[in-house]
Amino acid sequence: MLDKQIAKLIDAEKKRQKKVINLIASENYVSSDVLEALGSELTNKYAEGYPGRRYYGGNEVSDKVERLAQERALALFGLSPDVWAVNVQPLSGSPANLAVYLALLPPPSSYPVSSYQPPKIMGMSLSHGGHLTHGHNVSASGKFWIQVPYGVNPKTETLDYEALRRLALREKPAIIVAGYTAYPRVIDFKKFREIADACGAILMVDMSHFAGLVAGGAYPSPFSAEGGQALADVVTTTAHKTLRGPRAALIFSRRDSRELDKKIDKAVFPGLQGGPHLNQIAAVAVAFKEAGTPAFRQYATQVVKNAQALSDELARLGWRIVSGGTDSHLLLVDTWMNGKGIGGKEASERLENAGIIVNKNTIPFDERSPVEPSGIRLGTPAETTRGKKEQDFREIARKIDKVLRTYIDTNILMGTNDTNGY
Ligand SMILES: Cc1ncc(COP(=O)(O)O)c(C=O)c1O
Repeated sequence: MLDKQIAKLIDAEKKRQKKVINLIASENYVSSDVLEALGSELTNKYAEGYPGRRYYGGNEVSDKVERLAQERALALFGLSPDVWAVNVQPLSGSPANLAVYLALLPPPSSYPVSSYQPPKIMGMSLSHGGHLTHGHNVSASGKFWIQVPYGVNPKTETLDYEALRRLALREKPAIIVAGYTAYPRVIDFKKFREIADACGAILMVDMSHFAGLVAGGAYPSPFSAEGGQALADVVTTTAHKTLRGPRAALIFSRRDSRELDKKIDKAVFPGLQGGPHLNQIAAVAVAFKEAGTPAFRQYATQVVKNAQALSDELARLGWRIVSGGTDSHLLLVDTWMNGKGIGGKEASERLENAGIIVNKNTIPFDERSPVEPSGIRLGTPAETTRGKKEQDFREIARKIDKVLRTYIDTNILMGTNDTNGY
């Protein structure tokens, strides 16, 4: 590369990534083939529109790339093209979610001004593990529409489907969003389907976090239940977390008389975006071919086993794991433990100094703030890609414990913490 400044920074980031233990639950390491597709000449091409319906000339290759990505996306999740459509153009997860709302929630212009009430999006609140784009008021999803927030049960720290049902029947949301950013447990999509049916809402599942586990058979499918019962109406996902693809997103929608797919296509382009990023779409196709292999199934199973090993060992060492464990690729550790431990911010900083990268995170009913929360979120996808197994994760748990205990003990000795151990 002629640009030495950027070459140096890329090299520095490569070295950083090699050196650290990466426990960021939403990160992963893509293959060299995915990188090659991302860095290809496809980035030079404008292809506004959809295959066969472009606004620019010279798109015979683009059409093939986009169609192949669509075919592979449907095949990966075992979906028939007669039943499901997929849009592979969203640039990332947040714009994909916005496109769904833009497509399916009636805009103010469809009402007389005096009678307009913004439609409601029922989504998990940020502090319980939801994503900003599930209706939080700092995101466009909460500025143009109204969030009906829900959380977890205070005792179990898991979803309480009866409470969700009561809330949905009372608030009558237009869309219910299931699928989160920091929820370690399996989601009962059948129960969500029943709740959505009971209140007449569209069921949208944002599987960004666990999509790779669904693809690898290590997490329930949000598309349909065993026996074929239809579950979600719309499924969004990023390609870059457990799926181990490039930064990109997809929207799957059920084909029926509601014509969700047509509305979603229009919302993505021209509603929110111009030209699709074809290099990204090609890289998605590459990643999805990889995710369809037996090796990826093993990977997905190992990701969950590793998260459980990490969780069990931390619990054995005395740390409180939110909801008591995990069924997925991530876990939440209550490091603060009512003031007897260490705040999530300090914990993540101490761990980073020791070469372990995590993110601070609120825990449900957090008494502290999102900037100084009570916990950390740990995930196993990235280090599992590097071949780590359960014993490695138990070792990582012991390292984490050592770093955090040293900090707590030092503070007790210096009298700067109100802790007396835990
Ligand atoms: C559940 C969920 N949805 C959407 C997103 C947004 O994805 P992006 O960062 O690509 O906009 C995230 C990102 O972390 C997420 O966790």
